[in-house]
Amino acid sequence: MGQEFEEMTEDILSHPKFQALRGHCHHGGENSLFNHLLDSAKEAYRLAGIFGLSDERVRAVTRAAMLHDFFGYDWRSDSHKQMVHQYTGWKRVTHMHAFVHGTMAAERASRYFTLDYRQYAAIRTHMFPLAPLPRNSEAWIVTLADKIVATREVAATVGWQIRRWFRRDWASMAC
Ligand SMILES: [Fe+2]
Ligand SMILES: [Fe+2]
Repeated sequence: MGQEFEEMTEDILSHPKFQALRGHCHHGGENSLFNHLLDSAKEAYRLAGIFGLSDERVRAVTRAAMLHDFFGYDWRSDSHKQMVHQYTGWKRVTHMHAFVHGTMAAERASRYFTLDYRQYAAIRTHMFPLAPLPRNSEAWIVTLADKIVATREVAATVGWQIRRWFRRDWASMAC
């Protein structure tokens, strides 16, 4: 991606809290949360150009996409499961990772980086339809970019799993 993209995202990319996401698996296979966020930001940057946003809003939506999953916890950890299990019924469902991590990411991102209210809302609603309806163009672009990239990643993971199965079967036949 070009120099403009690098200039608008380099402070996020080089931040230690963001670099730590390289070690977090996301959507299975060999994909990390770092890669997911970087690819989502590239996709949002591309879409913002197609939709003709101003330079200022292209920057805003690219940075919001880069931070949309900056929630900062392991949703498969015991502590997160314990947090969810303190609730019952529908309340438990609404406290599951898929429903809450947009708000968590917006809160955490705003502690480390400066966000305007449109960026905050875009991060908070990126899980629509599991989150509230996106209400500005940045929010729709972040939602769309996330879903495009997630679909690509899940498809790649399915291919990766199939290759692993074939390799395992081939290895067992060779023995
Ligand atoms: Fe997400
Ligand atoms: Fe995401």
